[in-house]
Amino acid sequence: MLITAEALRKRVESMATEIAGAYEGDPDGITLVTVLAGAIIFVSDLIRRLPIKLRIGLIGVSSYAGATTVSRGARIESIILPDLRNRNVLIVDDILDTGGTLRLVQAHVRSAGPSSMRTAVLLRKAGKAPADVEVDYVGFDIEDVFVVGYGLDYDGLHRNLPHIAVLESVHNGIGPV
Ligand code: IMP
Ligand code: MG
Repeated sequence: MLITAEALRKRVESMATEIAGAYEGDPDGITLVTVLAGAIIFVSDLIRRLPIKLRIGLIGVSSYAGATTVSRGARIESIILPDLRNRNVLIVDDILDTGGTLRLVQAHVRSAGPSSMRTAVLLRKAGKAPADVEVDYVGFDIEDVFVVGYGLDYDGLHRNLPHIAVLESVHNGIGPV
């Protein structure tokens, strides 16, 4: 156990207050770009606490293939997005690790000509993300460990855990021992 369901609930609520305050009164509201699949639980809890004008888009990015905890470089696999031109875009992802995923998503959004672009992540791993990948909202800073639950998976599993847990059986980043 790393982050309890109760701690997640409280932090998501305070992030929502911060985000709603930043966009409140903007006639355009915000358009979320949700990074699939890891961010689905986070975004669903977040948006129910955002009482502002809001649209949702989805973008599928894969960086881990199968039973591995080592990122192999991100690739956009599916795009289900409304028009982002002249919109206030908020990218939402589960975790910032090496930054490969968000670098790709931010470049994609930028090329669509939004009026503003910010990024929110639930988790950020200590000291790994490069300086060119900027995030505006961070739920929790964590150690460089592999975590699952609350949307995050290992080999497609454990996304349905209500809390965040450290995957202890992973050894040398290659999979379970
Ligand atoms: P990055 O591209 O290295 O920053 O990794 C970001 C993506 O990899 C996230 O969107 C996650 O889907 C996945 N990821 C990174 N670290 C973890 C982890 O500890 N557990 C589960 N998924 C992770
Ligand atoms: Mg992901």
